[in-house]
Amino acid sequence: MILITGANGQLGQTLRELTKADSDNYIYTDKEDLDITDKEAINAIFRKYKFTHCINCAAYTAVDKAESERTTARAINALAVRHLAEVAQENNGIFIHISSDYVYHNTINRPLRETDPTTPTGHYARTKLEGDLQALSVNPKTIILRASWVYSPYGNNFVKTMLRLGRERDSLNIVSDQIGAPTYTLDLAKAILKIIRQENELQFGVFNYSNEGICSWYDFAKAIFDIKKIDCKINPIPSSEYPTPAPRPHYSVLDKAKIKKTYTLDIPHWRDSLNHCLTLL
Ligand SMILES: NC(=O)c1ccc[n+]([C@@H]2O[C@H](COP(=O)([O-])OP(=O)(O)OC[C@H]3O[C@@H](n4cnc5c(N)ncnc54)[C@H](OP(=O)(O)O)[C@@H]3O)[C@@H](O)[C@H]2O)c1
Repeated sequence: MILITGANGQLGQTLRELTKADSDNYIYTDKEDLDITDKEAINAIFRKYKFTHCINCAAYTAVDKAESERTTARAINALAVRHLAEVAQENNGIFIHISSDYVYHNTINRPLRETDPTTPTGHYARTKLEGDLQALSVNPKTIILRASWVYSPYGNNFVKTMLRLGRERDSLNIVSDQIGAPTYTLDLAKAILKIIRQENELQFGVFNYSNEGICSWYDFAKAIFDIKKIDCKINPIPSSEYPTPAPRPHYSVLDKAKIKKTYTLDIPHWRDSLNHCLTLL
């Protein structure tokens, strides 16, 4: 039996959809039925089901709001993650957790490796790193997948915001000096399922994951408008003209060599995945 927490989020809904045919083997929960900060509730559900795996898709993801809601962000992204990983370990279970490119936030200008320095600058980023380290320290059977720029047909994300704004306005200013790569939840969810279904011994630890290719937010927005034939002019602007409460990394392209080699993954290019997502929107 596999527990999926945060099952109403972008990644959670994608996993729910992908595992529909096998749903008897999954328990899908979100805040209203399993608040991951509620230790007693976590203990009780593990007592009830004896999960072999826990895939934690629950998170506090409001990056800028986290600057003013520090306690809540840390409770969800760090303290609850530790407890989930710990309870999974007590049940000899595998803990799969999703983290963020923001934990690196260093000054390196080549694709970031899992061994590169982590110097998170905002509170969200710090809580995500704390969650990663706590989980790894309490459960040796932990797999952390660090993703960047996550989007999907569900919830709120850059792609859906651009579609809305692009249809409402004649022009938009989009940051062009932050470089990274988007992650389509369908690809990430497939990777997670491939990992947990593989028969060879699992390798634990930290793995980066995003789609292949590199782009700026400007490039990403332009591709969205090109594919959907939206007539809206995009003006490239520097980050300095779009200040946010939490600082963003200028370069957060993730090196995926480790996950590709370990789990023989074929990762789609971000443009192909964007095309796929936009057929659903
Ligand atoms: N989105 C990105 O750009 C991005 C980038 C890099 C990494 N990530 C990481 O990827 C993972 C998945 O992200 P996502 O975009 O799928 O997130 P999401 O759409 O925000 O989903 C998170 C889910 O967790 C739920 N949740 C929040 N607090 C909870 C609690 N105390 N107990 C149980 N559930 C709770 C949320 O409910 P509510 O919505 O009701 O709060 C939501 O349904 C996260 O770990 C995130 O940090 C995301």
